[in-house]
Formats: sequence, structure tokens, C-alpha cells
Amino acid sequence: MPVDFYITTPIYYVNGEPHLGHAYTTILADVLNRYHRLFSDEVYFLTGTDEHGQKVQEAALELNLPPKEHCDRMVLHFIRLWEKLGIDYSDFIRTTEERHITVVQEILQRIMDKGDIYQDEFEGWYCVVDERYFTDKDLIDGNCPLCGREVNRMREMNYFFKMSAYTRWLIDYIEEHPRFILPDFRRNEVLGFLRQPTRDLCISRPKSRLSWGITLPFDEDYVTYVWFDALLNYYSAVKDKGLWPATVHLIGKDILTTHAVYWPIMLKAADLELPQTIFAHGWWLVEEAKMSKSLGNVVKPLDMVDMYGVEQFKYFLMREMSPGSDASFSEELLVKGINADLANDLGNLLSRLTTLVNRNYDGIIPNGGEVDEEWRRLGESCVLMLKDALKNFRMDEIVKLAMTPVRRANKYLEETSPWRLVKQDKNAAGRALFNALEALRLTSVLLKPIMPGKCRDILQRLRAEKTGLNWGELNAGCKIIKGEAIFPRIVKEIPPPDKEVKKAPTVEENVITFQDFERVEMKVAEIVAAEKVEGAEKLLKLQVDLGIEKRQLVAGIARYYSMDELPGKKIIVVANLKKVKIRGVESQGMLLAAVKGKTMRLLTVDGEIPNGTKVL
Ligand code: MSP
Repeated sequence: MPVDFYITTPIYYVNGEPHLGHAYTTILADVLNRYHRLFSDEVYFLTGTDEHGQKVQEAALELNLPPKEHCDRMVLHFIRLWEKLGIDYSDFIRTTEERHITVVQEILQRIMDKGDIYQDEFEGWYCVVDERYFTDKDLIDGNCPLCGREVNRMREMNYFFKMSAYTRWLIDYIEEHPRFILPDFRRNEVLGFLRQPTRDLCISRPKSRLSWGITLPFDEDYVTYVWFDALLNYYSAVKDKGLWPATVHLIGKDILTTHAVYWPIMLKAADLELPQTIFAHGWWLVEEAKMSKSLGNVVKPLDMVDMYGVEQFKYFLMREMSPGSDASFSEELLVKGINADLANDLGNLLSRLTTLVNRNYDGIIPNGGEVDEEWRRLGESCVLMLKDALKNFRMDEIVKLAMTPVRRANKYLEETSPWRLVKQDKNAAGRALFNALEALRLTSVLLKPIMPGKCRDILQRLRAEKTGLNWGELNAGCKIIKGEAIFPRIVKEIPPPDKEVKKAPTVEENVITFQDFERVEMKVAEIVAAEKVEGAEKLLKLQVDLGIEKRQLVAGIARYYSMDELPGKKIIVVANLKKVKIRGVESQGMLLAAVKGKTMRLLTVDGEIPNGTKVL
């Protein structure tokens, strides 16, 4: 049975733990889903994990685990985080589940039988050590970009999906369905892409090169390309429930092409319906200093949940990002946002009103008398406009609209001063208090999808748990429940990130034990290749050989060393630093160097010793 609203998140790779970006998409999907439920829609919400492919195979290999066991462990990080964030999904799909594998094989066979999959030779540069193909563009000085070794021109038989045959159809479809790709400027991006010559998609990988995937139903020497497998989760999870097609695929802008080009063509080729909308949001940017130059005193975004409360954190994320654009995350902005909106506007209103009602009306909600037309109109228009904003994924607008009654009530209290009025006209003061309480109730109903727990708490205190979206549903005559401050003001000095990074501890503060030191794993490494990082003058991307493994590091040494003089140098690397992305480039480890003024010298060893040797 179809539902009114079926929303999906991307399925996340299990090669790393979830971070703010993953959390954001999932929270947004959850919140959108809950808004639809608030407006009485039948809803369905799917999330899950993407468990096949090279990345996952490599991550498992690094940990010396069979891939499935690695997935079974990693998936728990996602499930636990969603629980912590109060994500109310209907189903969680893993691409290693049988129900998914069967459907992927069915669809592949169907497209094959139709004649849209063919076998062809694929040619490229192959590095035997890294077991990977590269294009001309990828090579560095004609060598492997990962290990710097010689590459061979090789041919490989593969299976291709006739995507190019469908591009004209897709352009027309997108043009005829303005809500298929949102926001608008993303639709134009996709159309621009489609107007370039498009190539067919290679949808197989020989098992001799990559074994971790779904076997092609028509050739058991091959596995399915991970994206062809992953995208089908949206269908495989609901096929038997009759819920296809999806209403919305919520994604980040990084995976727009796969969703807006590959996916609709796959569906068309398989004679399946297309989803209604693909909505791509922007990225959360975290100041580079925070991510890369940690002195141990900089907090990771998800730690914010423990520090400031899960619902406050969700509120901030929803308020702060306007759809389509990127947004910056910082602890300072988070604290400011929580204090201004939740502690001041919302929390204060609740405690002021509770005090006034207790002091002057024995805690009983006073009678509102005749419905105040101005307030009723305001309440109604907030609800209507919010519904409209919901259609366009304007989460920042939704938050503003939901907060409007509370903001208006704060002004209204100043205008009507019920604490003074009560001495002359108790009924009039009672009416003013009723309207302000009703405004607070309506805001709480409208914010429930973002902060279900806190809003339920406010509504319980107002004895209004079961009330809805109409103005005037508050029950006069009930006794208000007193309680603690619902959003305590956060008093916290947050040093600007710069200061944080530069502040060096004194020698006494900085004494460490031998055990502390021992946790740092240092190794001898050899630089095999160096390359610029686009858009970052100071950074170089280095490929280093650590004996049994190769690593990529990003280092701020471009002002001191040219790219050519680096290959062949032996350096010392901190090998057990957590992987980070610097300017979008992955970096795993840190090299050691001495810097004074304009001079930098890399730490090295004073004679031959194998790469990967531990530094003690
Ligand atoms: N497995 C694929 C998706 C397959 S869907 C059929 C994948 N996984 S991922 O783990 O890399 O997650 C990507 C998604 O995480 C993005 O599309 C986005 O939703 C979210 N984010 C990851 N980093 C992000 C930010 N910095 N900011 C906001 N969201 C981002 O790609």
C-alpha cells in the first residue's frame, strides 16, 4: 500500500564512523518525516548502510577482518548514533542483506535481457601493486599516483550499461518535471552535465581485482559496481511492501550525479517508476583549524550532543542551514543559537508565564474569553506558511515560522503588561496571559518534529499534550505544572578557534608520562610522490611508503619544499593519527618537522633502515 510520504537518506559507507555530515542528512530526513506526520500524512522513512565495494574492502583489510565482519561491527556505530539522536526510521537496510542482493540481481538480469547491458573491453593504466586502474589524467609523471611505481597499459573485459541511449529522454523528463531535482540551481547543474557527451557506465568489476560485491547474475567472475548496487536499496527495501516510488531522496550535493543521472536511467531501463523529488542539501563546513590542528582541546561536532543536549543540537542544525547552501558549524554559533532562541525566547516565556499564572491565578490557566481575531489569524497563517515551506524543504523558514508565535508573545507581554493590568482588570490580564500561553502552546506543537521530548514537556506543563494546530485549543481552568528551566542558559566562554590553536601549555602543565608518549606511534616512511592541493597554497599531498602499507598525508610544507625534491626522502610519520579531510583531501598521519621562521627541516633517519620501522 503506497503511503503519502516515503523519504530516504543516502545509505552511508561503513568504512568510517558517522560524523556531523551524516548526522545532518539523517536528522533532516527524520524531521521532514515528522512534519509530514504532524500534518496527518502516512509516512515511511528508510535509511541504511552501503557495505560493498573497494572502500569497504580496503577498510576491512587494514583491520585484518573479513569484510562482512567489519560491516557488522561498523553498522552498530550508525544504529547507536541514530538511537542517540532519536531518529525514528521505519526501516534500516544493509546492502549485504539477502533481500537486497536478490533484487539487485533481478534488476540486472532484467536490464541485460532487454539488451541495455553489453560486454566490452576497458582500457587503462594498471598498477599491479595497488591493483587499480588509472586514467591518463590520474598519473603523476607517468607513474602510479598512489605508490609512484611504473604502470602498465592493460585491457580488461567489463560490462557496460547503455546510459548514453537514455540521456535525451532524461533531459526531457527533467525539463518537464520541475520538482524532480531541487533546489532549482541543482537541476540546471544536472542539465548542464547531461548536455555534454555522456559515456556508458561500467557496472562490473572482475572478481580477480575486487571480490567484495554482488555477483553479476549473468557472469560469476564479476561483481556489481558499488553505485549500481547501492542506489537500488531505495527500491529493494520496499518492493514487497508496494511502497515504490519514493517521494523524496534526500542527499548531499556530493552525490547529485549518481542520483539525478544514473538512478533515473537505471529505473527507466528496468521499467520502474521514478521518485518524485531528489533534494540535494549543501555541506557543513567546519573550520579547518578545528579539524586538523587539534591540540586535544578542540571538540568534535558530535560531542556537542553530550554537552548541549540532543534536541538543542538538532534545533540548531535545522535553523542554521538554508536548503541548498553550505553552512558553517562552530561551537560558538551553536551556543549563541541555543541561548538566543531556546533559552531566551522560548524557555523564558514559559517560566515568566508560569510565574505570573501561579502568582495571580493560583496556577490555573485563566479564561481567554472571546477568540482574539488577530492572534487567531497569526496562528493560522504560521501553520499555512509552514506547510508551504515544508514543500520546498525550507527548514530555516520552518523554524522561523514555528518560533513566530513565541516571539510575538514576548512583545505582546511587554505591550499588555499583565503583571500591572491584573491589579486593575483581572479578566483582561487573564485574557492576555491566555493568548501568550496559547502562542507558547502553538509554537511547541509546531516544533515537536524537531524537539519531540522538550516540546512534549512544555505541552504537559500546559496540560495540552493532546492539542493540535488550531488556535485556541488550550484548556482554560487546568492547573499549570511548575518545573525546572526547560532550556537553561549556557554560560560558556568559547575562545575563538585561533586562540585555541595557538595557546601553548606551560612546561609544568605539559608533563606527560611514558605511557602517554607510548601511545604515539611513529614510523619511518619514504615519500614516493608529492602533489599540490588545489586551492591551498601551503599544502602538499604526499604519498608515503610505510613498508607494509601506503598512506596519503596532507602537510603544510609547500612553502619550504618543492614537489620534485621530496620523492625519495625518508621522513618520520605519526602513524596512528585519526584520518581527517583537509581541504577535501584525505590525510592519514602527520610528518614531523622542525620549523623556525622561514626555515623548515624534515625529521629523518641518519642511515638506511626499512620503511615502516618503528621509532622508539
Ligand atoms: N554510500 C554513498 C551513498 C549511496 S546512496 C545510494 C555515500 N556515502 S557517504 O557515507 O559518503 O555519505 C554521503 C552523504 O553524507 C552525503 O551525501 C551527505 O548526505 C552526508 N554528508 C557527508 N559529509 C557532509 C558534510 N560535510 N555536510 C553535509 N552532509 C554531508 O556517499
